[in-house]
Amino acid sequence: MPATVIVGLQWGDEGKGKTTDFLAEQTAMVVRYQGGDNAGHTVVRGDEVFKLQLTPSGVLYPHITSVIGNGVVVNPVTLIAEFDMLTARGISTDRVRVSRSAHVIMPYHVALDQANETRLGGAKVGTTGRGIGPAYGDRAWRLGLRMEDLLDRAVLRERIARALPDKNLVLGSMGVGPFDVESLVDLAAGWGERLEEHLDDTTWLVQAALARGEHVLLEGAQGTLLDLDHGSYPFVTSSNPVAGGACTGGGIGPLQVDEVIGVMKAYSTRVGSGPYPTELLDGVAAGIAERGREVGTVTGRARRIGWFDAVPLRYAVAVNSVSSIMLNKLDILSGVDPLCICVAYEIDGRRVETWPSSGAALSRATPIYEQFPGWTEPIHAVRSLGDLPEHARRYVSAIEEHAGVPIVLVSVGPERTQTIERAFRPMRRRPGIPA
Ligand code: GDP
Ligand code: IMO
Ligand code: MG
Repeated sequence: MPATVIVGLQWGDEGKGKTTDFLAEQTAMVVRYQGGDNAGHTVVRGDEVFKLQLTPSGVLYPHITSVIGNGVVVNPVTLIAEFDMLTARGISTDRVRVSRSAHVIMPYHVALDQANETRLGGAKVGTTGRGIGPAYGDRAWRLGLRMEDLLDRAVLRERIARALPDKNLVLGSMGVGPFDVESLVDLAAGWGERLEEHLDDTTWLVQAALARGEHVLLEGAQGTLLDLDHGSYPFVTSSNPVAGGACTGGGIGPLQVDEVIGVMKAYSTRVGSGPYPTELLDGVAAGIAERGREVGTVTGRARRIGWFDAVPLRYAVAVNSVSSIMLNKLDILSGVDPLCICVAYEIDGRRVETWPSSGAALSRATPIYEQFPGWTEPIHAVRSLGDLPEHARRYVSAIEEHAGVPIVLVSVGPERTQTIERAFRPMRRRPGIPA
């Protein structure tokens, strides 16, 4: 059962792009299973920086088939621009397959998302404004367009004409002008012509790869605490980043998952609104933000910064059945002294060690911290755990104890090589993967 799921354990931006890139070398296929162009995954290779929103990070390897699964919502404008960017930089997109069943983000979804956020004012979710919520909403309401619909003008006309009157009414109530059916049909048909050669029945592609014994990596976007079911609703995204989402959105069954690698960073960040008990608003946060370049990839917004929080970590390990962890950005903490890990919350005078499902309770939570001595040395060049400063080792061990599963990889810089492989069981070499 050679499928590995990569899942964010915090509020996104944990470094999933780096993790996928690090593991992809040993894989035949990388599948994105949910989210859309709200995601921004950065992969650094020497002087080259790739920021990917829709295409799985494995596209940078010529031997990998990259799959955009049925659980993704695709904005064709972003996808086409991303293909053009990759091609211009010498990366072939020929092996990118897009599920015929993936839903399409239409211009009215983007307009609705943005107008609704404006209307919410101070209560806004702080979305990326990419139309993610409205597109998933239409999917659930059976009003959506799927990628295969882009290939048939009659179907396009029928489906757009069915959805649009309501959209225009709502947009009109928020002061936004109407969209026109025929213009949207022309636009969407143009996307279809451009993307047709990439459309596929991706579930069978994934199943065939697994049947051949090839290794498949399933790359999540966002993170567990932004999950529609498991995050702090309503300050969440509209899909399921958790490992279960890899099954529904990638076309595999639960028993086909071999390993779940949880990705987290050595502190926390969050973009957008919502409760964040360990948020830091002082100079420590400013230092971490600057060294860690904590600026949103998609929106350019400053990411909120906080201490590492072990309360949602324990929850994330449980709901994802995480089998091992990659801890990223440990290098950013050099020079921060002391360091804090939140081990529990105080809510209404009671000590709480479990992540509360109630957003209201979470917003009243005060963190209870354990302090750790910091270290001052830069650690970018360290390649084995034994060479880390003692206090860094102690900090990693404390996080591991809370997680209850091994931290097998520790990242000390953005590049693939800046990785400490600790008790990491490399995935077996499998057919279809160059030696
Ligand atoms: P993702 O959305 O989970 O893929 O994460 P992002 O790419 O949005 O944000 C992570 C950022 O941290 C990227 O710019 C990465 O290049 C960078 N990064 C990843 N791991 C490390 C690390 O260990 N150290 C440092 N300094 N940067 C890292
Ligand atoms: P990656 O894959 C961090 C956040 C938004 C907002 C909430 C809902 O790079 O980790 P949406 O546009 O999805 O409706 O916004 O989710 N958000 C992310 N935060 N990293 C991401 O992706 C995110 N994708 C969405 O900031 O709070
Ligand atoms: Mg990101």
